[in-house]
Amino acid sequence: MKQKKKEVDVTPWEISEKNVDYDKLVKDFGVTTISKELTKEFDKQKLHPLLRRGIYFAHRDFDKWLLAKKQNKKVSIITGRGPSEKMHIGHLIPFFIAKSLQDKFNCEVFIPISDDEKFFVKENLNFENALKYSEDNILDLIALGFDAKKTFIFQDFKYTNIYTYAAQIAKRITYSTSKAVFGLKPENNVGWSFYPAMQAAHILFPQFYTKEKHISLVPVAIDQDPFIRLTRDIAQHKDFNLEKPAAIHAKFMPALNGSAKMSSSDSENNLIYLSDTAKEVETKIKKYAFSGGQETIEQHRKLGGDVETDVSFQYLKMFFEPDDKKLAKIEKDYKSGKLLSGELKQILIEKVNSFLEQHQKAKQKAKKDLDKFLIKN
Ligand code: TYM
Repeated sequence: MKQKKKEVDVTPWEISEKNVDYDKLVKDFGVTTISKELTKEFDKQKLHPLLRRGIYFAHRDFDKWLLAKKQNKKVSIITGRGPSEKMHIGHLIPFFIAKSLQDKFNCEVFIPISDDEKFFVKENLNFENALKYSEDNILDLIALGFDAKKTFIFQDFKYTNIYTYAAQIAKRITYSTSKAVFGLKPENNVGWSFYPAMQAAHILFPQFYTKEKHISLVPVAIDQDPFIRLTRDIAQHKDFNLEKPAAIHAKFMPALNGSAKMSSSDSENNLIYLSDTAKEVETKIKKYAFSGGQETIEQHRKLGGDVETDVSFQYLKMFFEPDDKKLAKIEKDYKSGKLLSGELKQILIEKVNSFLEQHQKAKQKAKKDLDKFLIKN
């Protein structure tokens, strides 16, 4: 039942094959695994299940960010979205954390929308659609319930002030750094090589915008770490003299078929969009969600299911079942064979549909709140 491990390359713009060797990435990227002490702190502070359950598995200076908060120093959060498409549930992982830390610590959240990035990188995305998806995705993000007074959203193609920061940063990034860090190829258009300066400007933006030197936290999946590494170097350059950003890195939410990363470039059957209908969700989960259950009911009752490979269980663990006790019971029952694969899928279907029903209503309402969130030139 266990899938074979195979090495993969992870860059912000490409992740290949089925499994990701997270231990290797920790070494290659030079990030720190989240320690037992830090996990204890997450439990003590009752932080989001994504943190407590190890989905966020690595970090850079998150302990320093928490300490600064404890000492009543200013801290902020910044995390962005590259709108190539409608959003899927995997994209929510950094935003759930941003929202829950905002609720807990009452801090500002900055959300850049890199429509330029996806326009450069996605060959088939035209300019009009890049703008259209920005608008659509911004509504999805507002619908998550961020505090309008403390949340600042901007789109690169519209909030063009961001260019003034990106230009100053671009001057301090050599072409060979950009090439090495992001695996650029000769055939890539020059937008790709400039874009890292833009994302570094996003990450430092809380300090530029508030004019206060402080530590900002960037929650992301591990694929975004090259941007963080680059920005931490830039921050300390004498031109800027800013605080290095902290980061927390999540594992990927798998695609329905169990492959390593739910990704917009995959087949629609493999992902759950935030706009999916209840029927679509039901069909996709029933038909395509990889099951860790056994071939027959008899075998399953005898041997039980494998929660590590079972995609429905993994989705519940990530965020669809926030109650630890309920999750532990599901795990126990599935492992023992008491709970069947179809029953487990049904639990997930109900959870996903109740989340999406509420989300889609909130997205409709978000239209009237747009101006409260968007920052303008
Ligand atoms: P994007 O739009 O590809 O993805 C948005 C965020 O979601 C994470 N993510 C996932 N997390 C878990 N499981 C998945 N299957 C999954 N798929 C995507 C991504 O790591 C990302 O954090 N360049 C960025 C957008 C961006 C940004 C920023 C991020 C622009 N400026 C500043 C952080 C800070 C991107 O294309 O993400």
